[in-house]
Amino acid sequence: MNFFELFDISERYLELLNPTSPEKVLEVGRVLGLNPDTRLIDFGCGYAEPLKLWGEAYGISGVGVDIREHVCDHARAKLARAGLADRIEIVCSPGADYDFPEHSYDVATCLGASFIWKGFQTAVQALARAVVPGGQVAIGEPYWLTSNVPPTYAQKQGFHSEAEILRIVREEGFDLEFLVRASLDDWDRYSSGNWYGLVRWLQDNPGHPERDDVIERLRTSQDEYFRFEREYVGWAIFILAPTRW
Ligand SMILES: C[S@@+](CC[C@H](N)C(=O)[O-])C[C@H]1O[C@@H](n2cnc3c(N)ncnc32)[C@H](O)[C@@H]1O
Repeated sequence: MNFFELFDISERYLELLNPTSPEKVLEVGRVLGLNPDTRLIDFGCGYAEPLKLWGEAYGISGVGVDIREHVCDHARAKLARAGLADRIEIVCSPGADYDFPEHSYDVATCLGASFIWKGFQTAVQALARAVVPGGQVAIGEPYWLTSNVPPTYAQKQGFHSEAEILRIVREEGFDLEFLVRASLDDWDRYSSGNWYGLVRWLQDNPGHPERDDVIERLRTSQDEYFRFEREYVGWAIFILAPTRW
């Protein structure tokens, strides 16, 4: 079973695909000063839960981009149910290939998908290209909580420390304006939400030929969570304001 199919299974009972909460996503919108005049682009938009929350609470318009067809369909249906389809468009495309109009959005966001551009720094650069001069960026990113991460796990994940994130942000002409950090409850809800999807699928598909892949995904995810993630990995939404443009 391929990588994306396993995500489709594990995420099927979730709406927000990150260790955060609707309240925190709304707080990000408040800090960004979102309002009915705001045009926003969200890369790796998932099921468009952040876009829906911002559309309903602050009246934004804009675009969400995601690579997975069924995720885009789910996002479009959700936005239509919320009466937001005329203001928020979903584009199904690899984010790095999407030919967006440069320097035309008020805000660019990417919550948990900097891998679209293969790293945090290149993600900040891409988001900076999307916004008008003076536009803001919000990026949700994992980071190391300590400097003594077991080397094999550190190499596998390749995250930055928060100090490195701060350095990169400044190098790219921004300052960190605000931080909305995941709590352990957010992590537990997100990780357990994925396990719940996997376990339910296993119960519903007793004779499936690729069942072992799903069992392996469940157990690897839980092993990594209890051995490493809880202790070594944080996640936050970093809100960046331009200081050089
Ligand atoms: C961790 S989820 C976050 C979803 C959403 N931002 C949220 O907070 O609910 C990452 C999303 O990035 C999407 N994705 C993965 N690779 C991508 C790519 N190359 N281009 C665009 N989207 C991608 C996945 O399909 C997934 O929906």
